[in-house]
Amino acid sequence: MTMKDILTSARPVIPVMTPGSISQALSLSRALYEGGLKTQEVALRSACALDAIKAIKDQLPEDLVLGAGTILTPTQLELAEQAGADFLVSPGSTDSILDAAKSSLLPFLPGVSNPTQAITAFNAGFNCLKFFPAEAAGGIEMLKALAGPLHEISFCPTGGINSKNYQKYLSLPSVPCVAGTWLAPDELVRKADWKGITLLCHSLHP
Ligand code: 3PG
Repeated sequence: MTMKDILTSARPVIPVMTPGSISQALSLSRALYEGGLKTQEVALRSACALDAIKAIKDQLPEDLVLGAGTILTPTQLELAEQAGADFLVSPGSTDSILDAAKSSLLPFLPGVSNPTQAITAFNAGFNCLKFFPAEAAGGIEMLKALAGPLHEISFCPTGGINSKNYQKYLSLPSVPCVAGTWLAPDELVRKADWKGITLLCHSLHP
């Protein structure tokens, strides 16, 4: 699967999870899966993140496509690959991360927030980019402006995306899907309201 295939089949959204425990990760991933979101991301921001990736890949259905996000170093990239992630996501695109990703077998989504970073990542061989932090870095207007010169690039906007603005992003031809944490709100996760999370997913428009 290419990164473009992954983003296209993830539409409308890749939910980003930051689980506090393995059991929470499994319940959350299952709730999102039952809500129809079969492409998900675990951000490497908690102590259990790599084990959560392993557990989800072991216990959820095989058609779940799981990304490892918030990759900041080549070492994390390697650990995420070993944990069984299907794709890798970084909020940035430093030379060392781009180099490590080029030698990885997994699809990679580097983060960019301006044209120079986008061109650097594109020249390194990546035509699908995470536009991050989307709302703070110029939002829809920025993406519209980038679409002319960078028409070969697909963007997955992330950062500040929510139920009110995701459809506007999805209306852009350069945006196959968005990503964000809003489908796993802290309050519902704390209350273990997994049904509430599945219902939230069902309210999404394609
Ligand atoms: C990410 O890790 O991709 C972003 O921090 C998600 O941003 P959000 O919380 O604004 O959706």
